[in-house]
Amino acid sequence: MAGGSSIPRGKFQEGDLALLIDRKGRRYLVTLKSSGSFQTHVGVLPHSEIIGREQGESLRTSRGQGLLALKPTLAEFVLDMPRGAQVIYPKDLGNILVLADIFPGSTVVEAGLGSGALTIALLRAVGESGSVVTYEVREDMAAKGMANVRAMAPHPRTHTLRMGDIYQGIQEKDVDRVVLDVPEPWQAVRWSAEALVAGGIFLSFLPTVLQVHQLVLALTEDSRFQMVETVEVLLRPWNVTERSVRPVHRMVAHTGFITTARRCAPRKGALSVQANASEDALQEEGSVE
Ligand SMILES: C[S@@+](CC[C@H](N)C(=O)[O-])C[C@H]1O[C@@H](n2cnc3c(N)ncnc32)[C@H](O)[C@@H]1O
Repeated sequence: MAGGSSIPRGKFQEGDLALLIDRKGRRYLVTLKSSGSFQTHVGVLPHSEIIGREQGESLRTSRGQGLLALKPTLAEFVLDMPRGAQVIYPKDLGNILVLADIFPGSTVVEAGLGSGALTIALLRAVGESGSVVTYEVREDMAAKGMANVRAMAPHPRTHTLRMGDIYQGIQEKDVDRVVLDVPEPWQAVRWSAEALVAGGIFLSFLPTVLQVHQLVLALTEDSRFQMVETVEVLLRPWNVTERSVRPVHRMVAHTGFITTARRCAPRKGALSVQANASEDALQEEGSVE
């Protein structure tokens, strides 16, 4: 998928991504080529009729069906893009950016690339003056993931793909953030501590509690990490119409857990400081009955 303008603003140009939505809400992601055409059971729409138009117009197919044309948001792209591996869902992407405190100009080491959803979100957040280095072990994943990154990321020159195993080490030094979506992140805890600046943030996304438990034990054992915290993000969409206001019948029940920790000066025997006041401490303060 070749990308045109990655900025989701302005009229459609050749090479842009267009999200076409039919009357029933079905969505189709296309890359615009002047010679191309979009063909479905609701008819044909030549790309030349989309190029040069403003976003938000309803365009007619050869069978008179309306298709709403918009440039995809990051969340829409992630849900509709070609996937080689399980992607991180938008609800988690947003929280990862805030919990890891990804700031413009920051340097981030990430693993692995997968389908590229998290990489795209990180690249947007670090901006033109930041950098993202992505470790990935599989060549096939790298090819698929990079096609998505190129289609959507605003400043690809701020991205470096390193074909390598993050469990074996991290080459970068003075890194602001380490963000991991790999199955055994505890194998990268030591390297992350060596790579991170003082006060830097380690974040890991994991699908099961057994993995979270093993990671938290590894972070707690390493005297350079404190403020270890794990959260799960639940998002319940609502259906709002004139006659009915209720939660939708189906929701994504489980995606994963986000664990964060801060890189601190090595502890000398003292216990690790927790991110949240313990239940005992809250009871002492009288805030828990
Ligand atoms: C679940 S996918 C990542 C999905 C990605 N975060 C996204 O949002 O699309 C996990 C990726 O990590 C890669 N991986 C697994 N172990 C790794 C390691 N030790 N070092 C680097 N990459 C690794 C896998 O090949 C796979 O591409």
